[in-house]
Amino acid sequence: MDDVALRVRMAPELPDGLLAHIDRVVVLGEELARRHGLDVAQVRLAAQGHDLLRAVGDEELLVRAEARGLELNSVERAAPVMLHGPLAALELRERFEVEDEAVLHAVWWHTTGHPDYGGEAWAMFMADKVEPSKVSRTPELGVIRELAEESLEEAALAYLEFRLAEAIERRWQVHPMSTLARNALLARGVGEA
Ligand SMILES: [Fe+2]
Ligand SMILES: [Fe+2]
Repeated sequence: MDDVALRVRMAPELPDGLLAHIDRVVVLGEELARRHGLDVAQVRLAAQGHDLLRAVGDEELLVRAEARGLELNSVERAAPVMLHGPLAALELRERFEVEDEAVLHAVWWHTTGHPDYGGEAWAMFMADKVEPSKVSRTPELGVIRELAEESLEEAALAYLEFRLAEAIERRWQVHPMSTLARNALLARGVGEA
């Protein structure tokens, strides 16, 4: 299944606004993948599938996660929207025959990032976070969008730290996987001048 076939099969289930977001993520993901010499098809497929369940409500996400026996942490219980990635990865495998483990892993963790993310996963992740409508809503993201042209890992670190600062300011919980992803980037020397 390629991203175009997946789009055709997903489209009837998704609201127009969400489809438009996904289309923007596919376009920017492809652009970033080309720029950084990555596997374009893999980035496009992950981008196409990442928000399959973004329109599902919190209660339903909790019901589905519990039915599947996912172990939920306190952040996910407080903000069940965070479960739309893991559940989308499972459904993409079961209902849409997506078999590429790297794509499924990228989709699973696309809300937080992951310490094992490679270039393709970060390209999809950054495209999701700084696609044009997100930058127009949150202009501070513009500089991170620029940074993604130079280095996906530098951009990912800057993005995770932008959201971390916001979480501290607002007294929100931080998902442990975001912290592990940030730690992994720092341990690799990302962010050193
Ligand atoms: Fe998402
Ligand atoms: Fe998204």
